[in-house]
Amino acid sequence: MASLPVAVVISGRGSNMEAIVRAAQVPGSGYQVVRVIADRATAGGLARAAALGVPTAIVPIKQFPDRAAFETALAQAIEASGAQLVALAGFMRILSADFVQRFAGRLLNIHPSLLPKYKGLDTHARAIAAEDSHHGASVHYVTAELDGGPVIMHGKLRLRPGDTPDSVSARVHALEHIIYPHVCSLIAAGRVVCRNGTVYFDGEPLATPLLEESDAAA
Ligand code: GRF
Repeated sequence: MASLPVAVVISGRGSNMEAIVRAAQVPGSGYQVVRVIADRATAGGLARAAALGVPTAIVPIKQFPDRAAFETALAQAIEASGAQLVALAGFMRILSADFVQRFAGRLLNIHPSLLPKYKGLDTHARAIAAEDSHHGASVHYVTAELDGGPVIMHGKLRLRPGDTPDSVSARVHALEHIIYPHVCSLIAAGRVVCRNGTVYFDGEPLATPLLEESDAAA
């Protein structure tokens, strides 16, 4: 089976990118990371990607006059890489409806909450403040609605007494590093697809997100 070419787009340290790349390098993953693209030269993930042997590109957002020009360059960088799947991983920009439409059904994001709960920022603090029993992360297809696209997989963990945003962040990250590569492999195998805004898993519409549960993740 041919390996699905994936581009990972980052703004920051890129720990999810690294997990996606490392999992791709395990035989049988079904996908390969053909490019890591950052919107700023200072993204720590660029050096990590280079160390892992993945070609990198920078589309420096500050050098473009407006969002449309930046997005045109970003789309060109993705298409030049040959990627058929795009994984946003800590990419700190909101993408326009035009961009999302261009990559519809091929654009993923990871968000640190059990969507649809806690779209936006400060998700760990909000889950703790609400005294939720569980929290986690979601891998979802990207639509024009911020953090609103159909969810493919939840990584779910139990909140503990005394948890802080930092303690929760570490455990959520550990789960993210499991679920994001897992979803990439499921898509590469053709087991997960998105058609007209609906996620299908093994040919059936996905009624509730796939679930990875962990209380062991440190
Ligand atoms: C992750 O928590 C992810 O859910 C959010 O941004 C963070 C990226 O972390 N979208 P990293 O750069 O992959 O370490």
